[in-house]
Amino acid sequence: MIRILFVCLGNICRSPTAQGIMARVLEEEGLAGLVEVDSAGTHAFHVGEPPDPRAQEAAARRGIDLSGYRARRITEADFARFDYILAMDRENLEALQRACPPQHAGKLRLLMEFAPDLGFEEVPDPYYGGAAGFEQVIDLVEAAVRGLVEHLRRERLPA
Ligand code: 4NP
Repeated sequence: MIRILFVCLGNICRSPTAQGIMARVLEEEGLAGLVEVDSAGTHAFHVGEPPDPRAQEAAARRGIDLSGYRARRITEADFARFDYILAMDRENLEALQRACPPQHAGKLRLLMEFAPDLGFEEVPDPYYGGAAGFEQVIDLVEAAVRGLVEHLRRERLPA
């Protein structure tokens, strides 16, 4: 089993969106039993809450249901458990780098590394913007998730 953790600030917008899209793509590709996905936030502002209604609506328009997810904060155990710990933006990555035990530091990356052609280093935080920001999150995350699955197929999964 390969374990992937998506991380943003609040775990109510970007990282649950990434979790939902990744779960869908893994199912479509017949990989759901080989790759585990989860998400977490670097901060505890929204712990226990479902994803932001705007994130749920943007995902629902693409047939993805985020309503069952609940926000949680990353824990020490997550750094050991997950193989890939993928940050949405540089601020998230820096928070992870401060908290991560040194032996697990190689697991930390920016999600958008897996869609290098898009020219986005980060998934911008949509929380204080409008609906367009949530649509952009889905588009960026979907492209990166597809790149991530290709990477896993190439490097980590049986042919
Ligand atoms: P997320 O978005 O990190 O993508 O879940 C945010 C959610 C909440 C806040 C900021 C960003 N906040 O400041 O409460």
